[in-house]
Amino acid sequence: MTTGSRAAHPDQVQGRRDPFAPLVENSLAAMFRRHAADGLATHAVPTGGAPQPVTRYGDGRHRINLGSNNYLGLAGDPRVVEAATAALRQYGTSTSGSRVLNGTTRLHLQLEDELADHYGAEAAVLTSSGINANLALLSTLGHPGDVLLVDAHAHASVHAGAAASRGTVSRFRHNSVESLAQRLERLDPRAGAVVVVDGVYSMTGATAPLAEIAALCDRFSARLVVDEAHGLGVLGAGGRGAVEETGVLDRVDAVTVAFSKSLASVGGAVMTTRAAADGIRASALPYVFSAANEPAGVGAALAALRILRSEPERMQRTRENGALLRRSLAEAGATPAPGRGAVLAVPTGDDLTTDAWKAAFDAGVYVNAVAYPAVPRGQAVLRLSVMATHTEQQLTTAAAVIGEAIEKARAVVAARGGAPHAVDAAIA
Ligand SMILES: Cc1ncc(COP(=O)(O)O)c(C=O)c1O
Repeated sequence: MTTGSRAAHPDQVQGRRDPFAPLVENSLAAMFRRHAADGLATHAVPTGGAPQPVTRYGDGRHRINLGSNNYLGLAGDPRVVEAATAALRQYGTSTSGSRVLNGTTRLHLQLEDELADHYGAEAAVLTSSGINANLALLSTLGHPGDVLLVDAHAHASVHAGAAASRGTVSRFRHNSVESLAQRLERLDPRAGAVVVVDGVYSMTGATAPLAEIAALCDRFSARLVVDEAHGLGVLGAGGRGAVEETGVLDRVDAVTVAFSKSLASVGGAVMTTRAAADGIRASALPYVFSAANEPAGVGAALAALRILRSEPERMQRTRENGALLRRSLAEAGATPAPGRGAVLAVPTGDDLTTDAWKAAFDAGVYVNAVAYPAVPRGQAVLRLSVMATHTEQQLTTAAAVIGEAIEKARAVVAARGGAPHAVDAAIA
């Protein structure tokens, strides 16, 4: 492997632009390097154990964990661990191939059947991640001239999948029914139209106005696709997400989910009609040309799905914990953005986030520091998430710590003359 420059050749072409430049000169990567050098690495902080309400971190300290998507508290649940272990023993560590060749086990088919049943869909197609569920579905939709209307704040994989489709992508303003309606009104009436939104937005916890969006889809004969990565296991009486909570499930053409949140695993799925699922299985790159989900992950997701369905009180606990944390943060002077469910965002802006994150981390609470490009420039947040298994005491203690951490960050920033942390200025 080279160290970056090629060995000189006697007839070497001179003056060529370096196509690796966007990587090696990446400003976010430079910021991460400076963060690490300053002992302020808010990203990729290693843990030393399962994502439990109190988690052991790589530095050996235990902290209240408000930064995991383990919403139902099942990653580490003995029943889920046992199911993963049994799958591992029976099927081995790897499927060693694509679903369409040698990679399908009975466990994959079982999970697809139970997911389809959960959503009342004809079929479910497993993918190796939530990202790949969106890519598999959206990249295979549309004819040239068809339009995919995508919420501006939808997950990056929704945008990437739509961009890979044969249709044209039109972004509408985040959660704006008016902006969507304007775009639908302007469409060529013969063009196919697909509206794609997240049920719950991953960085802010905002929910999509699905009743209004579904009504527009009915009026304009548009298909509707909803990513329920953060709604599954949290919203709706049966935990199907915002599509269930808002009563639109039977008007949605496809739902995508990720197993890395409530299902205590890694993987994804698309729930849709049998014919559309067959089309995905025949043509989607992440399904056809990639190895099938590893058996342990499928076993874990299947066990978690069964617990989700048989213990609705867990979802209730997650929702109650979300409400308790919202109240406690407001009391601590750190009011989160409006929302419901397991994801909360405390707006701290680009100048406070890094210092507030560090103060909370040092005081024993792990949260996620989220800045551009995960949120728009200037709108950095502390992103928090609850588990069903957090105790009231843990949540109220953590809220007080976060309130104090933000105060401390304000003082630190003021002492610096109001400037953002030096390392953050690099990408401002
Ligand atoms: C809304 C949404 N969709 C999809 C994904 C991708 O899921 P995965 O991590 O399984 O690839 C995420 C990840 O956080 C997400 O927030």
